[in-house]
Amino acid sequence: MQHQKTYHQELLTLNDRKIVIEGPVSSDTLKTYSFDDGLDAFRRPKDQFEAILEIADLDEGRIIIARDGEHIIGYVTYHYPDELERWSDGNLPYLIELGAVEISLGYRSGGIGKKLIQLTMEDSFVENYIIITTEYYWHWDLKNNSLSVYEYKDIMINLMASAGFEVFQTNDPEITAHPANTLMARIGNNIKREQMMEFDKIRFKDRFFF
Ligand SMILES: CC(C)(COP(=O)(O)OP(=O)(O)OC[C@H]1O[C@@H](n2cnc3c(N)ncnc32)[C@H](O)[C@@H]1OP(=O)(O)O)[C@@H](O)C(=O)NCCC(=O)NCCS
Repeated sequence: MQHQKTYHQELLTLNDRKIVIEGPVSSDTLKTYSFDDGLDAFRRPKDQFEAILEIADLDEGRIIIARDGEHIIGYVTYHYPDELERWSDGNLPYLIELGAVEISLGYRSGGIGKKLIQLTMEDSFVENYIIITTEYYWHWDLKNNSLSVYEYKDIMINLMASAGFEVFQTNDPEITAHPANTLMARIGNNIKREQMMEFDKIRFKDRFFF
């Protein structure tokens, strides 16, 4: 599959700051920006920035960022699923994963997370993809708020649904390990019935072994 990426940009005002939401951005563009120290939900910020630079250069990789001036304060990543996970079975060229979304603590709850994911979908090429997101509660930042895992789950579902994601059932043990964990997917408009059937097979892998 020849992955095409078309750049989009939007402005959002938060506490009198003009926040630029843009992408997909290349690693060359990313290197001209700084990366906020508060972006530490998944890895040390320096390591996470390195990972993002790598993803930006993958054929299928997409990085959408939020920046305050030249300073990155949020991002969302898209890439093929990890080869150790069932979602990479068959290496379906049209199945990509929203890997991580993060907004620096001081900029949260201002609509940036939602805008990042929505802007991704303005590129009509994403209609050729099934985009999955595996929501595991152990990735969530439960320490910086008083939300329960179920309240956080609702926020994540609402956030993803605003960009066309829906909840899908699966027998994946990581998802079924906890009721707050959730599989969501956004089915592109150009996805055909046979492609959906391949996705169904992966969702319910080894079903007849139980
Ligand atoms: C999840 C995350 C990306 C959301 O980003 P954000 O910019 O704060 O989200 P938004 O401001 O766009 O909010 C989206 C919706 O969630 C709600 N929301 C966000 N944070 C909330 C909170 N702490 N309490 C209640 N509601 C909240 C917003 O009110 C909004 O609801 P609405 O659509 O009804 O208006 C951000 O909290 C974050 O970076 N968390 C740490 C990393 C993480 O958990 N990532 C998810 C796993 S990959």
